[in-house]
Order: sequence, then structure tokens, then C-alpha cells
Amino acid sequence: MGGMSLPIIRSALPADEAAWRGLWRGYCDFYGASLGDAVTDRTWKRILDPDSAIMCVVAEVDGQVYGFANCVVHENTWETQPVCYLEDLFVLPSARGHGIGKALIEWLRNAMRAEGWARLYWMTREDNASVRKLYDQFAQADGFVRYVIKR
Ligand SMILES: CC(C)(COP(=O)(O)OP(=O)(O)OC[C@H]1O[C@@H](n2cnc3c(N)ncnc32)[C@H](O)[C@@H]1OP(=O)(O)O)[C@@H](O)C(=O)NCCC(=O)NCCS
Repeated sequence: MGGMSLPIIRSALPADEAAWRGLWRGYCDFYGASLGDAVTDRTWKRILDPDSAIMCVVAEVDGQVYGFANCVVHENTWETQPVCYLEDLFVLPSARGHGIGKALIEWLRNAMRAEGWARLYWMTREDNASVRKLYDQFAQADGFVRYVIKR
């Protein structure tokens, strides 16, 4: 994978299903999560549905998809425009370190400007130092801490 060409970043298409599902499995494994098929099926369906708030962009190199960013564009109480939550970011382990993750975030930052979203935001584990090295190139972490109540 030495001299990898620059990735093409684009919205996910129906033909990306097998690649997306393979990457999604890797992403769930990374988090030690075992999601039911109903969840994965629904998420993929929502990604393709233009009326859904869920969207996905993929990174393609030489016709193969190596990474994705799943996002939710939603209303908020602080601005009149919607905001974009980058919920899932994943690059195939063998393709990491070639700028694909960075290209996905850069694409979303451009989309934010083009679409008029008030902001693009995401969360990460505080101790995830290697990934934060990438994120720190875009913005400073704002110090908010997440609380979660589980059902
Ligand atoms: C996070 C992730 C998407 C980054 O993808 P990537 O294509 O490897 O990222 P890039 O090649 O664009 O990296 C950009 C920078 O971050 C650094 N970086 C990113 N991931 C790194 C890692 N795992 N180890 C060391 N450095 C890393 C690179 O050194 C690079 O720095 P540079 O621009 O100064 O050279 C990928 O590592 C991944 O899928 N990780 C597992 C899932 C995950 O953690 N998702 C995010 C959860 S919040």
C-alpha cells in the first residue's frame, strides 16, 4: 500500500453496500460491539434514503472503498441552521496512515460550508491519543464530557 493515490471522497451509493458492510463490521469489532442485523440493515437503508438525517461518505482509491464517515445532520437550539454530527469514522486497518481519515473530515468540513451547517462536531475517547493527533489538526477539543444513561 506504499504509494497510495489520493482518495476520492463521495456520498455512499447502493453499489457500496458490500464494502460498507465489511467496514462496518470492522468498526463494530473495534468497539467490541455486536449489533443485530436489524440495526445494520436499518442504518444502511437510512444512509441511502435522501429523506433521512443519516448520511455517509466513503473514501475510494482505485475503485475500492477503504473508509467511511457516517453522519447525522440535525436541528439544534443554538443556531437557525442544522449541525452535522460525525458519528462513525473508520478506515480499513491496512489503509491507515495514508490520509484517508483526514480526507474524509476535510470533505465534511467543505460540505459544512457548502450546505450551510452551523458546525461539524464529533466525540472521541479522551485517552485515544493517536486519533486525537488527527483531530487536533482540525480543532481544539472543547472540554465537554459526555454523560450517558442506558435503558
Ligand atoms: C481514526 C482513523 C479513521 C484515521 O484514519 P487514517 O486514514 O489512518 O488517518 P490519516 O492517515 O488521515 O491520519 C492523519 C494523521 O493522524 C495520525 N494518525 C491517525 N491515526 C493514527 C493511528 N492509529 N496511529 C498513529 N497515528 C495516527 C497520522 O499520523 C496522521 O498525521 P499526519 O497528517 O501528521 O501524518 C483510523 O485510524 C481508524 O479507523 N481507527 C479505528 C476507528 C476509530 O478510532 N475511529 C474514530 C473513533 S472516534
